[in-house]
Amino acid sequence: MQTPPSASPPVPWWLAQRLRAAGGSVPFLDYMDWVLHDPDHGAYGSGRLAIGPRGDFATAPSLGPEFAQLLAPQVAQWLALLPADAPLALVETGPGEGQLAQQLAEALHDGWPQLAGRTELVLVEPNAGMAQRQRQRLGACPLPVRWIDFDSLASAPLRGVVLAHEVLDALAIERIERRGELWCRQHVVLRGDSLGLEAAEPLTGSLLDQLEALGLLPLDGSRPEGWCTELHPGLVPWLAACAGALSEGWLLVIDYAHEARRYYAPQRSGGTLMAYRCQRASDDPLREPGLWDLTAHLCLESLEAAARAGGWQPLGGCRQGEALLALGLASRLHALQQGQADRLAELLQRRETLLRLVDPAGLGEFRWLAFRRDGVAPMPTPETSPLFLSVPAP
Ligand SMILES: C[S@@+](CC[C@H](N)C(=O)[O-])C[C@H]1O[C@@H](n2cnc3c(N)ncnc32)[C@H](O)[C@@H]1O
Repeated sequence: MQTPPSASPPVPWWLAQRLRAAGGSVPFLDYMDWVLHDPDHGAYGSGRLAIGPRGDFATAPSLGPEFAQLLAPQVAQWLALLPADAPLALVETGPGEGQLAQQLAEALHDGWPQLAGRTELVLVEPNAGMAQRQRQRLGACPLPVRWIDFDSLASAPLRGVVLAHEVLDALAIERIERRGELWCRQHVVLRGDSLGLEAAEPLTGSLLDQLEALGLLPLDGSRPEGWCTELHPGLVPWLAACAGALSEGWLLVIDYAHEARRYYAPQRSGGTLMAYRCQRASDDPLREPGLWDLTAHLCLESLEAAARAGGWQPLGGCRQGEALLALGLASRLHALQQGQADRLAELLQRRETLLRLVDPAGLGEFRWLAFRRDGVAPMPTPETSPLFLSVPAP
């Protein structure tokens, strides 16, 4: 349910203080970083956001173990392609509540015990508040677990698989706005005791190059005064740091994403930025700062360019609905129909979860995108190309 923008959102003291110290105005990028990742006041940094059907918003693994169980054969395929005597790692970046990590560890342990016996779970979580919650959930994980950052992994890179499920949509974005014949950076400004958005300095340097590559320059009449959208300056450094953490292996990104032509279509005049709290959605990024999740879609072409620049080779991608069908969702649904009548409520619940994962109006629209460390792991052959990109069995 969409809620209308709040007329004059209250400004928390910590944010007002920080804005004043910065002269009353900061780029949207800094604002988003603070309200999500500030260790004391940010929605993720403080560990305040709750993920799940009864929390602030639901993600696929928060609906139950079905998602991880379907994803597990893909992870196992990749791990099994790595040298037979090597220690292996399953790295999850941005593990949230730790549900996906726990469920995948269980699925690997049950379905591929030999691989699981050589695999450690490595969690990359910059927000201490979230890491604390993950530690609680993963207390009884069947694989050895550790928390570390990409920089530390660069000196002892791993062999394995990195998962980035709904994490890149939490990277802070630049909001940009058309002003006359220029693209300007949007700032968040303190006006008395409320917040506002304002077009500030014209864009320069690499951001302009990016706009040109996306077809947003030269400016023409198709995007009117005030038209605004987003760019992701954090993608290139994130993907490079992530590549440095692996000596050999794969990265799977699962997230909201559009092709550039859809993302930057003239009719999409306000970008993709959305706020979520208590199962409500809002397009007002200034309401109750630090209490709402803020997320922006990824642009597929920008992601691919950033991945290549970081040392990843794109292997292809598809929508979640197609990926899960290729990984056996239809046969799971079929098996549920053979279930015992005395477990009807449970079977119906599992059926509903499976259907939600592929719903084209919801989670089924997510994109799955695979990348390999360039020139290290063997090039995929038809036998070794990602399982999730294969045609589902009839
Ligand atoms: C939407 S939650 C995703 C949770 C989980 N992957 C799931 O599917 O349920 C985003 C997670 O990414 C973390 N995060 C935010 N920025 C990050 C970054 N730069 N690197 C790694 N994790 C990040 C957040 O703290 C949070 O744990």
